[in-house]
Amino acid sequence: MKRIGILTAGGDTPALNATIHGAVERANELNLEVIGLIKGFNSLYNERLPHVPLNPLFQEIPELDPANGGTILGSSRDYVDPDNKDQLDIIEQRLEQLGIEGLICIGGDGTLNGLQPLADRLPVVLAPKTIDNDLGLNYPSEPDEYIRREREDRSGFDYHLKNSRAAFHLDHMINYVTPGYATAVYVSVQGIQRIRTTAESHRRIAIVEVMGRHSGYIALGSAYGQPDIILVPESSFSLGSLVERIKDLYDLQKNVVIVCGEGIVDEDGKDLGAEVHSMDPAGNKILTGASEALRDLLIREIGDEYFRSYRRGQSAREAIFTRKVGHTQRGGRPVLFDRFYGAQSGGKAVDLLLERRTNTVSTIQWQSERGFWVDSQDANGLRDRWGLIHARKMHSSFYDPDQLKPSEIGRDYLKPIFQHALGPDDLEYQRLSTFATGNLMLPYHSVNTDISKRIRYIG
Ligand code: F6P
Repeated sequence: MKRIGILTAGGDTPALNATIHGAVERANELNLEVIGLIKGFNSLYNERLPHVPLNPLFQEIPELDPANGGTILGSSRDYVDPDNKDQLDIIEQRLEQLGIEGLICIGGDGTLNGLQPLADRLPVVLAPKTIDNDLGLNYPSEPDEYIRREREDRSGFDYHLKNSRAAFHLDHMINYVTPGYATAVYVSVQGIQRIRTTAESHRRIAIVEVMGRHSGYIALGSAYGQPDIILVPESSFSLGSLVERIKDLYDLQKNVVIVCGEGIVDEDGKDLGAEVHSMDPAGNKILTGASEALRDLLIREIGDEYFRSYRRGQSAREAIFTRKVGHTQRGGRPVLFDRFYGAQSGGKAVDLLLERRTNTVSTIQWQSERGFWVDSQDANGLRDRWGLIHARKMHSSFYDPDQLKPSEIGRDYLKPIFQHALGPDDLEYQRLSTFATGNLMLPYHSVNTDISKRIRYIG
């Protein structure tokens, strides 16, 4: 193999450039050319196949900075249609024309589902990334436990996990953690710590919404910010006991901080945040408004009189407020953990291509005796019996539904990721860059401007 392609697909994470960097560094060692494809799978639909040589003369281009968030290649949520054979033929020809003999896709579960049709035509591997930490398995037999039911309107199938009979052990997780997760948790934790002091001052109840779709990993990790209550999508909550807990805390400390994952569900299993059932192009339900929906419920249940009687405000509406950590979770400089393991995963993806592996995922494994290492997993091992890859949910044992906090095993899960997740340079970078005088004088210089000058086309 002389030349490989690489693309970034799906929602971005701060670790994408680090992953591309790891792939390019490994390719340089092996005298392998790396071509970056612009805007994920979208580039393949463009007859000119916009691309950027990432290591001309086996030197990494200077724009590729592993400590920069986002992706210099751009990303989109376009995927390849497995049933459109003509289109697949055209894509294969385009890649051939560019001399691409293998392809690395950096993405999540949507990307892994999306790369399958191409993986039958040339070696294609996945280097995982997602802030949601939902690509992988809690235990190896998890995909076999999916059952599916046809929807009443016959518009398709819904997939559910059966109650598992498999024993769970942290050492047996497949892809323990995905690059991007640690930074998202870091940003969320900072947001929670900052909300706390203002909630304390103003005697308020804060609801902080974090991302993660239907996986509660980011909410779980937010425990480092010491919120009083954490609600995760995997565990429906009882409104009555939640209100009771909030009142107990408020009586004691005059403020409460609640973290909710954007995919939390009510007692009937209905998404609190999916008032509008719209879908993104990857077919994921767009979740907006879990925290607002929860706030409405609390305003109704707690009522104005409660706050007035404490002389802590005129109304529940005034006392209970929401904040979304939002896309800041996905942006900016990746913390050391993500930079390091993103790069390792990118390097492993190159090795997999050279072994002519296809439909394979580079994984980050962890065992108590061994710590972290990079490995690989045949993507079929992640697919259910119908060939689908499902977003990994946080294992139920990680959460204590009585405490509304991580359980002991949940805390054990988090510790290896976060104990050294921040490097001294992460803090030094903040110190030197935040109030640099140049920030006041110089306009922001987007890396996109420089990358545009390097874009090449076929034909
Ligand atoms: O999958 C990553 C993620 O950030 C989710 O946590 C979130 O629900 C979604 O993407 C947001 O997508 P968008 O960037 O399209 O708003």
